[in-house]
Amino acid sequence: MTLLLPPDDAGIARAAELLAGGELVAFPTETVYGLGGDARSDLAVAGIFAAKGRPSFNPLIVHLPDLAAAERIAQVGDRARRLAMAFWPGPLTLVLPLREGAGISPLVTAGLPTVAIRVPAHPLAQRLLRAFGGPVAAPSANPSGRVSPSRADHVLEGLSGRIAAVLDGGPCAVGLESTIVQTDPAAVLLRPGGVPVEALETALGAPLATAGTAGRPTSPGQLASHYAPRACLRLDATEARPGEVLVGFGPVRGRLSLSESGDLTEAAARLFHLMREADRLAGPDGRIAFAPVPDSGLGRAINDRLRRAAAPRG
Ligand code: TXA
Ligand code: MG
Repeated sequence: MTLLLPPDDAGIARAAELLAGGELVAFPTETVYGLGGDARSDLAVAGIFAAKGRPSFNPLIVHLPDLAAAERIAQVGDRARRLAMAFWPGPLTLVLPLREGAGISPLVTAGLPTVAIRVPAHPLAQRLLRAFGGPVAAPSANPSGRVSPSRADHVLEGLSGRIAAVLDGGPCAVGLESTIVQTDPAAVLLRPGGVPVEALETALGAPLATAGTAGRPTSPGQLASHYAPRACLRLDATEARPGEVLVGFGPVRGRLSLSESGDLTEAAARLFHLMREADRLAGPDGRIAFAPVPDSGLGRAINDRLRRAAAPRG
């Protein structure tokens, strides 16, 4: 049985207690729901991989309440500090050198000398992290390879019976995952996400390189097929073909729409929910088509998720 916990003091206290007991709790962040476990506990972290069916060589993000907590676990250099000051709390994850003796389970970092750290802005995530008082490892709360959850019922759809509880915070405001940046030895974009690249470059005062695939740790965000709905997906569609559910954007009208006014923030917030809706409407043999979305600002992260959702399944 997976408990659905209310977003109040009692719900947060219960969620913190479960985490302290080594249990898994899904909780809302402003990006997507995370599947949280105590990042110091090998057993809890192994449980996260098992619940998601995730290949265990993929490292997890550690969630902390503030920059001071991050500095106890990782080395925060000048470039990282500048980004942290500009975007934390918020939808930015920094990959930083792990401090020796930080106490993070090696399963979290998959044995890498670096650790991914995020300080979420969602008030419930903040309250939970402070109530628990330790680092929380949390991937998106979905079975590996499937669409990320932006609502509590999405979490239950994929993981009910496999985790202790879900803290219900309603729909996530940003709707797609954090932007991941490695800052040392140079600033490199590892995954586009909730903080647009343009904003990062402004804060850095320099252009941001994009990660090549060679020599990088394999990450789910780098696997070709990811964030996938059940039905096959066609991109850059301007009209529905027979048997297709078209998800429109701006002037392209479909049965559903990411944003009728062509607003990228609204489109990001609705993306994962509409992938699920379109899947449901398409039925067992149906297909899904998405209208083109401009590749700037949040559009870059939206297109990244759409391309992966449309990629051939491995
Ligand atoms: O918005 C988000 O980032 C959400 C919420 C829950 O915080 N979390 C999330 O986690 O998207 P996940 O596990 O689905 O994606 C984490 C990504 C993976 O692509 C992983 O490989 C990468 O972060 N990652 C984690 N640690 C890393 C490291 N040390 N070096 C490079 N990549 C790393
Ligand atoms: Mg994920």
